Amino acid sequence: MKHLIDIKDLSVEEIDELIKVAKDIIANKEKYSHKCDGKTIATLFFEPSTRTRLSFEAAMIGLGGQVLGFSEAASSSVSKGESVADTTRIVGVYSDIIAMRHPKEGAPLVASLKSVVPIINAGDGGHNHPTQTLTDLLTIQCEKGRLDNLTIGLCGDLKFGRTVHSLVTAMSRYKNIKFILISPKELVMPEYIKKDVLEKNNIEYCETTDIEEYMDKLDVLYMTRVQKERFFNEADYVRLKDYYILNKEKLKKAKEDLCIMHPLPRVNEISTDVDDDKRACYFKQAEYGKYIRMALILKLLEIK
Ligand code: CP
Repeated sequence: MKHLIDIKDLSVEEIDELIKVAKDIIANKEKYSHKCDGKTIATLFFEPSTRTRLSFEAAMIGLGGQVLGFSEAASSSVSKGESVADTTRIVGVYSDIIAMRHPKEGAPLVASLKSVVPIINAGDGGHNHPTQTLTDLLTIQCEKGRLDNLTIGLCGDLKFGRTVHSLVTAMSRYKNIKFILISPKELVMPEYIKKDVLEKNNIEYCETTDIEEYMDKLDVLYMTRVQKERFFNEADYVRLKDYYILNKEKLKKAKEDLCIMHPLPRVNEISTDVDDDKRACYFKQAEYGKYIRMALILKLLEIK
């Protein structure tokens, strides 16, 4: 049985295959509408979510399957002290596959050790968010037509933003990728990502606090929210939350075919005046998330 806990659980070939299937689903939705008849996904969300939980549920419904689950820990027996491992073991009796989000890093991994059905990490603390990364890869492939030869700007909370950690890990396996890491000094990319992923794979990168410094070089600009829920003190969050606000003015030097991404939810980091710019891809990105999750469910359930 295969789980998806970390993006590295998938080889580049497997990711390319998932992207191929997701594109086929987009083009031929009807062909897939009964692939999961009789199957159920359980969404166990111990942290808030809109896109990830609902896109998993929409994905399973789009495949003809059914959904069950909870959207907050308080409505489960975890609130009475039940462990994540026991919860997962029980839910595996009621479902064929589980998507889990948890505030603690490693919780989905712990769950997978005892689970009788495939576990998908739907975000664990500030650590990883592999299905967001699959969403991002499908978006880049569809919007740019390639996953190599790209200069990618990552902007915002690079310290706590789990989506950028997983994205760097995934993109470092493609050819000729350069990263521009744009963040306040307090929210720089963690050392373990720089050393163990970027430097180990000889990926070119530079760090800056200025969002406009490399704007003309970027093929992709990936904005992120300052992760309020991971801060230890409110004053630091308030000081840093509006450090970057992307607007039309800041895009003046950007390429005509720049792809502007954001995993969402957005707070203030992209002004709404950018939403009608043809380079704004973040709402499409959320839609791509449903199709790549459909492809992933099929893969983990071993349905052709
Ligand atoms: N991108 C993302 O994970 O969004 P949600 O928190 O709404 O699931």
